[in-house]
Amino acid sequence: MPGFPALVGRSIFRSSSHALRSTHLTTGVAAAPPLLHRFGSRRALIIQTLSGPVRIERLSDSDSGIIELKLDRPEAKNAIGKEMLRGLQNAIETIGNDSSANVVVVSSSVPKVFCAGADLKERKLMSASEVQQFVNSLRSTFSSLEELSVPTVAVIEGAALGGGLEMALSCDLRVCGEQSTFSLPETGLAIIPGAGGTQRLPRIVGRSAAKELIFTGRRISGKEAVSMGLVNYCVPAGEAHHKALEIARDINQKGPLAIRMAKQAINKGLEVDMPSALDAEEECYEQLLDTQDRLEGLAAFAEKRKPSCAALRRAAAAVDDRDTYEPRQKVRGRSTLI
Ligand code: COA
Repeated sequence: MPGFPALVGRSIFRSSSHALRSTHLTTGVAAAPPLLHRFGSRRALIIQTLSGPVRIERLSDSDSGIIELKLDRPEAKNAIGKEMLRGLQNAIETIGNDSSANVVVVSSSVPKVFCAGADLKERKLMSASEVQQFVNSLRSTFSSLEELSVPTVAVIEGAALGGGLEMALSCDLRVCGEQSTFSLPETGLAIIPGAGGTQRLPRIVGRSAAKELIFTGRRISGKEAVSMGLVNYCVPAGEAHHKALEIARDINQKGPLAIRMAKQAINKGLEVDMPSALDAEEECYEQLLDTQDRLEGLAAFAEKRKPSCAALRRAAAAVDDRDTYEPRQKVRGRSTLI
């Protein structure tokens, strides 16, 4: 039934063409010429759409659907000041509006650091109310990152400190190099992690481990981070980006709508009791029942072949191109459009 994909699309996508237009309006930065890079054994066209301390790069060819968000403020080790915060907000908004995005890789262009956290030099010049406003804004920016409908993978090579670690915690997955260090040192500065750290860290590593890290501000290594579940993988130094791309490519081959619904089901379900969580799962599953993605998956199984990525992407794009949102209502156990 053609209406169902449109329904799914409206609930998770917005128009990419609008997104790109608004990016240029808000940033005033024209798209840079495409670059050719080599990732692993594959060559991918990279289209840059933003510049400044936060850049977005869209991979293409077989990697189309993977978007890289890069932190690039070398002089301050990617410390987050007002300009960096604006860059992050623009980048997240752009990605959120981009229907071609299937997975986002968040990394640093600065050697040996992911992000040094809040810009402490800028912070020193702020009044208490400016600090409050800034921290609130940083917190909601990281929530927007967490709430992107597509999976996000943080690549950490070096230091992820304070707000830098809080940014990584807002991603779905984390991959680090062995030389990485992690810390929430805020209590040493007589403050607390205020951009989600006190809430996300215990949800990821458990309350006891989180309390120890936050109370002491202790720096831990990549190996310790993987042993406590703070990161998904710890790989030899310099290989984290490669590993993250491997994961991103794996995700990029799956049904794009299914991946979004899986993320939504997990995130929603973890915040509520089990019966409500299972309802959330049911709602997400229902969104997939009549999609082209699902039919392509079944056809591929029957024909003993891999599902066609092109077919899956076409289905997702077709969904997004529909202009109207048609809400769905359950009638006698069956879903229908209203
Ligand atoms: N805010 C503002 N500037 C920062 C910064 C921050 N959070 N972190 C680093 N910088 C600046 C340094 O002041 C230095 O500037 P300078 O060249 O004008 O002196 C520059 O970045 C390079 O830093 P440096 O310490 O020389 O680099 P390093 O490679 O030896 O160490 C870090 C990198 C990230 C490990 C180290 O800078 C550090 O620990 N920073 C503090 C991080 C922190 O406590 N964040 C928590 C905030 S709540």
